[in-house]
Amino acid sequence: MSYTRRSFLTAVGATGGAGALLATMGALGLAPTAEAATKTAFTPPQPSDFSLTGRAGKKVVILGAGIAGLTTAYELGKAGYDCTLLEARDRVGGRNWTIRNGDRLTELSGATQTARFAPETYMNAGPARLAQWMVTLDYCRELGVPVEVFTNSNAQAYIFHEAAGMTAPVRWRTAKADVYGYISELLATATDAGALNAKLTAQDKERLLSFLSSFGAIGGKSSGFAYTDNSRRGHSVDPGAGDQEGTLLGSVPSLSSVLASGVGQRFSFEFGYDQAMLMFQPVGGMDAIPMALAKAIGKHRIHTQSRATKITNLETGVEVEYQDKNGKTQLITADYCVAAMPPHILARTPHNLGADVQAALATPVPTNAGKIGLEYRRRWWETDENIYGGVTNTDLDLGTLWYPSSGYHQSTGLIVGYYNFGAQADAYAALSHAERERRAVEQGMKIHGAKYRDELKSSMSIAWKLQPHIEGAWVSWPSREGAYQLLNRPAGRVHFAGDWLSYMIAWQHGAIESARKTVTELHQRALKES
Ligand code: ALA
Repeated sequence: MSYTRRSFLTAVGATGGAGALLATMGALGLAPTAEAATKTAFTPPQPSDFSLTGRAGKKVVILGAGIAGLTTAYELGKAGYDCTLLEARDRVGGRNWTIRNGDRLTELSGATQTARFAPETYMNAGPARLAQWMVTLDYCRELGVPVEVFTNSNAQAYIFHEAAGMTAPVRWRTAKADVYGYISELLATATDAGALNAKLTAQDKERLLSFLSSFGAIGGKSSGFAYTDNSRRGHSVDPGAGDQEGTLLGSVPSLSSVLASGVGQRFSFEFGYDQAMLMFQPVGGMDAIPMALAKAIGKHRIHTQSRATKITNLETGVEVEYQDKNGKTQLITADYCVAAMPPHILARTPHNLGADVQAALATPVPTNAGKIGLEYRRRWWETDENIYGGVTNTDLDLGTLWYPSSGYHQSTGLIVGYYNFGAQADAYAALSHAERERRAVEQGMKIHGAKYRDELKSSMSIAWKLQPHIEGAWVSWPSREGAYQLLNRPAGRVHFAGDWLSYMIAWQHGAIESARKTVTELHQRALKES
């Protein structure tokens, strides 16, 4: 008799009662205990926290309506805090930005692009992927933001290493088959020859050889454990009906050239705790998250085009001076302030929080990142190359190329033509948009050929270090001592929040976790101080 997992659980529940069922689920990693072990505990402030103590909710001014600022207002709002958000830009979300038709992108120089996309096309200029364990998905659930799979690794996508002498890209499936195959051949040969006898018992050897046989699809001992052409690598003619058994790809590269290609060095990316499949994205664009947060907070609490110009910590409150959307200087007072802006922007905002805080704010180093969205008249990656989502890795200054994980089989679609960091991003940032497009297309043609140029419809590029009021993609800390620790504590009545104060920098998860930490600390303090 064969058991499906469900029928197995039902059977245990039926014979042993709910206790046995839960214990079994725990053993399978399904019970709530497994969840509790990985998530940081968080209890949102409740209205009853105040009414029980007979005190009213406090006034909080939040600087920055990125994910950290929005989360702060959303969570404090649950207990009736009177929150006001000041956002320098004309939209909420911060780096969470989805560009659609008609949207304008202006850089610090004043250079402006306007998106000319089809109605169904969008580009996630900032965050674009969520791991299953990230708290961001909990917020999507709570806020009713629908999600779908984001394909972060795809056997059908490519690796292209020009510097290694590649003249054509290799599919991920082929690269993996070759690397796993040759590594298995080597290890099986060494094992069988007794080279690992000091580490392996006779039974270990047998088991290892059996594993390598399936892992690498290698031949048996009589063949010298040879790795040869096989269907994992792909086909030049796919298997079909009748006598069409398919034609293998052929031209298996030598072990030496597989090693020289460096393709194997790409594989560990998808082992990452933050990058492993399955990953997810909100349906229709990442900005569904800030939009839903803003709606829950109440739009009347959010002042866009309102840039904080001075933060003054007082004995009994905080005073924030800001420039409103008409350019007029305004003053807002509150019991507390949560500064959820990028640290390097905060460091340029006058304040009276002291020299230590100022030095700490100036400590993290901003990193640049860039992306270009290339909209095509035709989804040739699907029709001609059978690629449905995923990422192509290159050693070109493009970094990676991303195929869309939604809109399959629509008439048009948008590829991310480069996503790069640091010096590569700086090189593109230094160019005009037209030059970025030309360079990206020229490079991408090495992978996809002339259609990459000929079928292009429109494009938008972003250089995060040139985005007003943001000026970077994320930051890095020289150390987690000193400055990082200092800013993880309030300075007077000013608390800080942001992904930059977490161990998940460059992820919305980090921004949300930091906001929740700050909300908890501020709330405990408000209960005491009122
Ligand atoms: N979280 C960013 C990414 O996934 C860095 O690319």
